[in-house]
Amino acid sequence: MTDQMTRITLARRPDGLPVPEDFAFETQPLPKPGAGEVLVEVTWLSLDPYMRGRMNAVASYAPYVELGEVMVGQGVGRVLASGDDGFAPGDVVTGMTGWASHALLPAGDLRKLDGDLPESTALGVLGMPGFTAWAGLRAYGRPKSGETLVVAAATGPVGSMVGQLAKAAGLRTVAIAGGAEKCALAVDKFGFDASIDHKAHEDASSLRKALAEVAPDGVDIYWENVGGKVLEAVVPLMNVAGRIPVCGTIAWYSATPEGPNTLPMVWRSILTKRLSVNGLIIFDHWDDYPTFLNEVTPMVAGDKIAYEEDVTDGLDNMPQAFIDMLQGGMTGKTLIRL
Ligand SMILES: NC(=O)c1ccc[n+]([C@@H]2O[C@H](COP(=O)([O-])OP(=O)(O)OC[C@H]3O[C@@H](n4cnc5c(N)ncnc54)[C@H](OP(=O)(O)O)[C@@H]3O)[C@@H](O)[C@H]2O)c1
Repeated sequence: MTDQMTRITLARRPDGLPVPEDFAFETQPLPKPGAGEVLVEVTWLSLDPYMRGRMNAVASYAPYVELGEVMVGQGVGRVLASGDDGFAPGDVVTGMTGWASHALLPAGDLRKLDGDLPESTALGVLGMPGFTAWAGLRAYGRPKSGETLVVAAATGPVGSMVGQLAKAAGLRTVAIAGGAEKCALAVDKFGFDASIDHKAHEDASSLRKALAEVAPDGVDIYWENVGGKVLEAVVPLMNVAGRIPVCGTIAWYSATPEGPNTLPMVWRSILTKRLSVNGLIIFDHWDDYPTFLNEVTPMVAGDKIAYEEDVTDGLDNMPQAFIDMLQGGMTGKTLIRL
């Protein structure tokens, strides 16, 4: 057994898209757990778009990562040593381990995993992203049978869950995804009624024309994952009293949008259509997490909810996998296996 741990820290703040030099690898002796602490050997790490925001020194809904600090993130692992009666060596747990091979965490910040499903599902379909889709759709999407929903990043862990839950509720579901392969996956695996490749459309008006064809009755719910060109394309197609849960704007995480400014028309559509636009931060919904697990775990176990994982092996490859994920280079839930 090793007596060392490796951590990936924030070496400098990125200018635009992160590059490998923004991260540093550090090795240090394994700590020993004190009273109430648990030492975890990490087996899976989650990569999520929100991590890009935490690399900027900007005040937001959660603290940013300080220079030299370990990169923030959730992991799954096995307990190596425990200073708490509630955990024993060998227990499989999840918690905010950071980008690291091992983590020393307060027992209260860990949750035991004891189901039959693969451990990695605790980071994707049955973890924060899947839960975000479930909670946000109920609270802010308010789907009704016969309506039409549009979501981008549609094959990712949030978008694929949004699409499947909306389809099960009787909606027409339209996926926006990057490239022909992801578009096919959206329809074949995640059951979307139609899919559109945003990369095949240079501007918002071309994308809007394609969307209008596959959403002939207009759009009732636009689940906002990306912002940018997709937002500008969809909003004018919204029906009266449509809903827009604003979950993420990944198109703008690393750069400012370019091109002619059509935002005045977009925001006027919000006004004239009396749309409900809701900001969504999953922190507000954690009390409902047990309800989500009770409802959705059997659906995943019974193959009623599909999920896709894109696994990269080794901590060494984590920064590049993160950079690829931000640009659509991964399909499904991005995971690191240690
Ligand atoms: N508010 C909350 O509490 C909360 C919680 C979880 C997630 N989120 C947000 O939800 C969104 C989806 O998260 P996720 O974990 O499911 O992400 P993800 O799908 O694993 O990864 C990001 C995807 O975004 C798409 N993308 C990147 N740049 C784009 C662009 N310029 N235009 C269109 N699409 C682009 C790519 O898909 P394609 O290759 O298909 O384009 C990429 O694969 C993110 O914005 C995330 O920050 C918010």
